[in-house]
Amino acid sequence: TAPGENSSTDHRTTAPAFTADAPTTHTPLLNFVEEIAALTQPARVHWVEGSEAEHRTLTDELVETGTLTRLTSPDFPNSFAAFSDPADVARVESRTFICSENERDAGFTNNWVDPAEMREKLQGVFAGAMRGRTMYVIPFVMGHLDAEDPKFGVEITDSAYVVTSMRIMARIGTDVLRKIEELNAFFVPAVHSVGAPLEPGEQDVPWPCNGEKYIVHYPETREIWSFGSGYGGNALLGKKCYALRIASVMARDEGWLAEHMLILKLTSPANRSYFIAGAFPSACGKTNLALIDPTLEGWKAETLGDDITWIRPGHDGELRVVNPESGYFGVAPGTGWHTNANAMRAIAKGSSVFTNCALTDDGGVWWEGMTEEPPAHLTDWRGQDWTPDSDEPAAHPNARFCTPIDQTDMLAEEYFEPDGVRLDAILFGGRRKTTVPLVTQARDWNHGIFFGATLSSETTAAAEGAVGTVRRDPMAMLPFIGYDAGDYLKHWVEVSGRADQSKLPEIFLVNWFRKGRDGKISWPGFAENSRVLKWVTERLDGEGEAVETPIGFTPTMDALDLSGLEITPEALEDSIRVDRQEWATELEGIDEWFAQFGDSLPTSIAAEQEELRRRLSS
Ligand code: GDP
Ligand code: PGA
Ligand code: MN
Repeated sequence: TAPGENSSTDHRTTAPAFTADAPTTHTPLLNFVEEIAALTQPARVHWVEGSEAEHRTLTDELVETGTLTRLTSPDFPNSFAAFSDPADVARVESRTFICSENERDAGFTNNWVDPAEMREKLQGVFAGAMRGRTMYVIPFVMGHLDAEDPKFGVEITDSAYVVTSMRIMARIGTDVLRKIEELNAFFVPAVHSVGAPLEPGEQDVPWPCNGEKYIVHYPETREIWSFGSGYGGNALLGKKCYALRIASVMARDEGWLAEHMLILKLTSPANRSYFIAGAFPSACGKTNLALIDPTLEGWKAETLGDDITWIRPGHDGELRVVNPESGYFGVAPGTGWHTNANAMRAIAKGSSVFTNCALTDDGGVWWEGMTEEPPAHLTDWRGQDWTPDSDEPAAHPNARFCTPIDQTDMLAEEYFEPDGVRLDAILFGGRRKTTVPLVTQARDWNHGIFFGATLSSETTAAAEGAVGTVRRDPMAMLPFIGYDAGDYLKHWVEVSGRADQSKLPEIFLVNWFRKGRDGKISWPGFAENSRVLKWVTERLDGEGEAVETPIGFTPTMDALDLSGLEITPEALEDSIRVDRQEWATELEGIDEWFAQFGDSLPTSIAAEQEELRRRLSS
């Protein structure tokens, strides 16, 4: 149906039976759908099944309305490109709210508004917001459908682009609905509108959105309300909003951890496997490390996930991890055959949605870094002609590929285990030009939590705002902790305190981005990070040469396996050295950071701060 065609039903005053032909009798779900439909007044309601046929219909419609461009190049089968409004390209942290009952529970790292006030505000902005549009109801589960305690959600959205993307990123549709009914399960109600109602006869735009945006979480009632944006992190509500912000609150209450981490399985030539999780802020290397192709002879990497990890104490006192997602929403620029061939191979299998990439003349997509030489002509993400002489990049720096994870050749079989895998090591990393060495091992678990608590990074294009300023980003969760940051650190201490202490993972601080004396990033990174991973596994096995520095154990000059790598001794030294002067400055930054926690900072972490001070001055 063309937009506006159902105009006779758009302005009904009698209660419309929006759920008359609903494929369920689950009362809470019917009530939720009725309530949101009554508020937002959509032209029609569509219950998402998740089928191939439905996917075809939806993408046909999206091509018709101009939201999607069908890619005709054989290099991108069954794939589409989308181009956002130039003002809707990233997560909007300043418009993201944690509306807990008490302001104290949102903590100093979150924007807080009184929930009653926010509810009133949102009733206003959502009223009639879906007029003239289809309201889609997407049942979804984060994690496995047959997990011990599956975590359900239902996203209501007026964006078919969101439906198409959610089908890649999460397990959705009829199977999930049946399971919700069977278990009579709780689901997180998640409401999304692009905030662009269509008046009768009004022509739709390719990327509807609203200048006013709200990304709102009510932690106590586990609700999500997102208004005004179609961008992934703001609109695919299973991802950051649920699997991190709301899940972190569930995890606090239920004794587990919801984290911003990749999961990698690394197997040595001696056929020993290690499971390594890595927490890096957005656009700091999670997807690349998750899909690493080791350059070291005989080492094999497989992936379990690239963005979100749920950690639970297992029955044997070990920590276990699962990836609750089923797709990649990866940063496109910088992803290429030379840097991330595994991602490129997964993308080449098709079934992907690309957002804000450039179009090639043969009906494919391109972004900076995909190939060494750019094509001679492109249509850039804004729809303008582009040549290698152009001043602006062809793809937006936060352009994304959205690709099913099961298209990954190197997907670990353990990805399919509902109960996950044991965790052997955690890497905390960020983007730092200075100070932070390539790799540092924590002295013990508590020191490792201190690494996480003081993690810092230069800001990137993944969120609105200035790029390149250093900010503290605890456990790479700064924009995603759904409650008080001090309570969150305390929860880390408590959860791990209940695990078998001899089975706790080792913790490492890493930095692939430090600059050397020549002003260039001194470590080659990407696939060469396998050399760091090898040292990590050696340290797990009580081997691997290290020096104890004031900040922890770092590799000696000859500890890393550099076989076949061309790196000057100067560049290696610049990568791994600990500079006391830089760390004295760093400690001042840490002092300022911790001062903001007030008395919610766990004493065990404050003790590590004093220990660092002592070690630096002795
Ligand atoms: P994510 O958002 O955390 O998943 O980050 P990505 O893996 O998508 O990487 C974000 C950006 O960092 C991309 O432009 C990558 O090319 C770049 N990047 C990732 N790993 C490395 C590395 O080891 N060294 C360098 N120099 N850049 C990297
Ligand atoms: P990421 O997050 O940058 O960590 O991949 C995706 C997003 O922007 O929500
Ligand atoms: Mn990523």
